[in-house]
Amino acid sequence: MNKFYITTPIYYPSGRFHIGTAYTTVLADSMKRYHKLKGEDTFLLTGTDEHGQKIGEKAAEQGKTPQEYVDEMAAYAKELWAKMKIDYDYFIRTTDEKHVKVVQKIFDRFMEQGDIYKGEYEGWYCVPCESYFTETQLVDGKCPDCGREVKLMKEEAYFFNMKKYADRLLKYYDEHPDFVKPEYRKNEMINNFIKPGLEDLCVTRTTFDWGIKVLKDPKHVVYVWLDALTNYLTALGYGSEDDSLFKKYWPADLQIVGKDIARFHLIYWPIFLMALDLPLPKTILVHNWITMKDGKMSKSKGNVIYPEDLVERYGLDSVRYFLLREMPVSQDGIFSPKSFVERYNFDLCNDLSNLLNRTVSMVNKYFSGNVPKYNGTPNEVDKELEETCAKQIKAFEEKWENYEIANGLQEIWTLISRTNKYIDETMPWVLAKEENKEKLESVMYHLIESLREIAILIKPFMNDTADNILRQIGVRDEKFMNWDSLKQYDALKDIKVIEKGEPIFMRLKPEEEIEYIKNLMKK
Ligand code: MSP
Repeated sequence: MNKFYITTPIYYPSGRFHIGTAYTTVLADSMKRYHKLKGEDTFLLTGTDEHGQKIGEKAAEQGKTPQEYVDEMAAYAKELWAKMKIDYDYFIRTTDEKHVKVVQKIFDRFMEQGDIYKGEYEGWYCVPCESYFTETQLVDGKCPDCGREVKLMKEEAYFFNMKKYADRLLKYYDEHPDFVKPEYRKNEMINNFIKPGLEDLCVTRTTFDWGIKVLKDPKHVVYVWLDALTNYLTALGYGSEDDSLFKKYWPADLQIVGKDIARFHLIYWPIFLMALDLPLPKTILVHNWITMKDGKMSKSKGNVIYPEDLVERYGLDSVRYFLLREMPVSQDGIFSPKSFVERYNFDLCNDLSNLLNRTVSMVNKYFSGNVPKYNGTPNEVDKELEETCAKQIKAFEEKWENYEIANGLQEIWTLISRTNKYIDETMPWVLAKEENKEKLESVMYHLIESLREIAILIKPFMNDTADNILRQIGVRDEKFMNWDSLKQYDALKDIKVIEKGEPIFMRLKPEEEIEYIKNLMKK
């Protein structure tokens, strides 16, 4: 059995998570569910990144100890992921003792190997990003990552010898075209950071103490990124007594990260792994951001939207659908109340929900709910629908295997539209009037079968809706719910749809709901 190890970034618990943050996790969860449905042995990791100056300051602001603060925030994160039905297999916290010990061991090993050396650091430091920058890296004298003020700071520090690995990394990029997706991100790393000369990385801090202490020099704490990146290993028990998960799942098959943390994952992370003599992940997927019409989401602009608020009013699956459908991965996607309501009304209500409703009510009306068997002599129109199903399944798979997520969803909606059109073309009400039983049976079979395939296709990202569709059309047998069963078009037998179809999505009143979402943003 193929294994598939997939990771999200571990989140800074510095406040509530907005829909942008939720995007990465929903994407990772959907990928995991897709591979699981295909029968692979999947493992999804997520967690919280709990050390660093920013967290220490946040806790102090609230009159809490850092540990109290991160305990509360980790509980909040778990609660949110439960609401969003994130099917993770392990939740790592960088304050976990198991993680702390291994980070200390790794640090010692790097020192012994000569990868880490002691020196003095002077540079422009961005407190929110916890990153030092050189003069040339600054943009208009400000932090190149977040655009905020930086201050000149000097401290005794340990450095990781990145330069030593630069050529090896370039060679690795070159020989592994799947390592970075989309490819242009790799070129950005080469042109912006590696070719101009890779700087050694400062990997300790002495200006605060909320972090993992260097065992041999405890006034230093390990730089949050060295601490955080290793979570992908420690979560599997790497370096501990029980490393069976590590042996089974490493290297990761897919690591998903946002564009702001690409540099850490595409340069430092592979170099740390090379220094540890470990294989590198198969693919690191860098996604762009969800932004608002007026730019980045921020509390000061009053344009932040939180996933749980949307889920509470519109249900989980519409939010998951929207996030994946509106974000092209390799470009920024825009959230607007109007686009959310439109996607809901057009894609989910008009296209999907109505298709199910019309079909269930026709099978009830014409065949007392009993779905006719496949008759073995499909006509031209039936055959065309069968072919469209097969074609769209293939197109969806190709897109998803290449991490073109939104395009993959579009392929499913092409099938949904085609199936709706099939009803208009075959006009079952006319067939009923003409008492053309044979043709009517074939049409009903084809509609139910297409809906079954659509349900399986949407299962990775809209699990509850998929189950609801399967229940309404009467598919109970597990063997007709897995990915493999998509190959069979003619096998459904002895199934009965529910007596009265229930709409899976009800039309929203656009103006009211746009106003409602705008108010959520102001809240
Ligand atoms: N703690 C680090 C990750 C360490 S991984 C070893 C971190 N945390 S974060 O909470 O700030 O961000 C988590 C993820 O959310 C990142 O991948 C980031 O890119 C993503 N997003 C934050 N805002 C986003 C949007 N507006 N849109 C999409 N993703 C966004 O970075």
